[in-house]
Amino acid sequence: MAAASGSAIGLGNIWGFPIKVASNGGGAFVFTYIILTFILAYPILMAELVIGRHAKADTVKSMVSISGPKSRGLGAMTGYWGMLTASLILSFYAIVAGWMIAHAGGSLVSLVGLTDSWFITESMSRSIIFCTLFFVLTIGIVASGVASGIEKWSTRLMPILILLIISLVIYIATLPGASAGWAVYLQPDFSKVTEPSLVLDALSQAFFSLSLGVGTMMVYGSYISKSENLPKLGATVACMDIGIAVLAGMLVIPAMYVAQHNGVVIYDEAGNLIESGRLIFNVLPSLFETMGAAGNIVSLLFFVLMSIAALTSSISMLEVPVAYANDSLGLSRKKAAWYVGIAILAFSVLIVFNMDLLFDGVVNFATQFSEPLIGILFCFFVGWVWKRDTLLGELKEGCPEMQESFFWKVWPAYVRFICPTAVLALLVRSFI
Ligand code: PFF
Repeated sequence: MAAASGSAIGLGNIWGFPIKVASNGGGAFVFTYIILTFILAYPILMAELVIGRHAKADTVKSMVSISGPKSRGLGAMTGYWGMLTASLILSFYAIVAGWMIAHAGGSLVSLVGLTDSWFITESMSRSIIFCTLFFVLTIGIVASGVASGIEKWSTRLMPILILLIISLVIYIATLPGASAGWAVYLQPDFSKVTEPSLVLDALSQAFFSLSLGVGTMMVYGSYISKSENLPKLGATVACMDIGIAVLAGMLVIPAMYVAQHNGVVIYDEAGNLIESGRLIFNVLPSLFETMGAAGNIVSLLFFVLMSIAALTSSISMLEVPVAYANDSLGLSRKKAAWYVGIAILAFSVLIVFNMDLLFDGVVNFATQFSEPLIGILFCFFVGWVWKRDTLLGELKEGCPEMQESFFWKVWPAYVRFICPTAVLALLVRSFI
């Protein structure tokens, strides 16, 4: 549970979610995102967890093990595609995480009275150095084994990050300009909730934020004990994930309006968000500056905690291809982690060299296209291919009274018919 929430909670909540809110008109996006998380992402999270806990293997083996003789090829392909998507996500995720570490470094040097401009100004050298550092940390943890590495990190530090964000939310509410941000955030313009681009952003955000459609949750499902109640565990992870995203929005959206009030340009003349990927790096440092001497310490704490939250997610991404190299190809965990990690780092460096050309393209391909489509394939396998008795038996593990539950009555048919059809319909509508 700690590991699954560590995977879910990361840059997607605190960096990605506010960008999507700011570029989709505020509350309307928040509303649609929450609804889609409950009605589409949560059921697919359950599909991944239940496959993973049953098969107890890497994604390719797990998918093959629930397939029939005719669907084996498709099962394996789904596993491989998930692995590729996890690697693509890690390739851009590590760049952004590197910026977080750079800002933490900037706060640290400011604290000791040195100039921080190299750390906080965009440059290729900065992106590559800190992205590499982030990879070394990620690979190091994955190489050392899952249980010991991951859980220790995620459980202890999350509450501190939450408390820090809550304190910042309260602080920012007192600054001039913040109320305009609150209004945008909390008053949905319902005429916008069905706009195709908003719906696509909300759908991909819901998948990305819950680490779906890549096999991460399947690999983590394989580490969950048979005595755990899976639907409850999945619901807790989903609620925590939404909670942290909504909280981060309460920080970043008002902060954006405070920064705008202080002269920072956020939207261009056509009303589009400028440099969307750098939104929080433009907005939060100017907020920390208003705090005087304490600002550097708060900034250091914030960016260190963000880097750690990013790390608990990145290890879950790297775990997908590493579990395969370890389980199916027979490589030692250490070798698998270093080989795969370095290959993905090479791709990250390629992205940094061609930022304008590649960054948005990789993000969109992985999150708007691959993740939802693989999610549909997971539904297909759980709903149509996997033997019903085995699936239901697996669900009952850890929850003998399951048969009386609403989940039991609704979910199996839901992932069979409604969920895949709805995700597909939303995708088709958005892309056409
Ligand atoms: N859920 C993570 C976040 O919100 O930051 C991102 C993520 C982690 C996506 C793991 C995919 C994944 F496999």
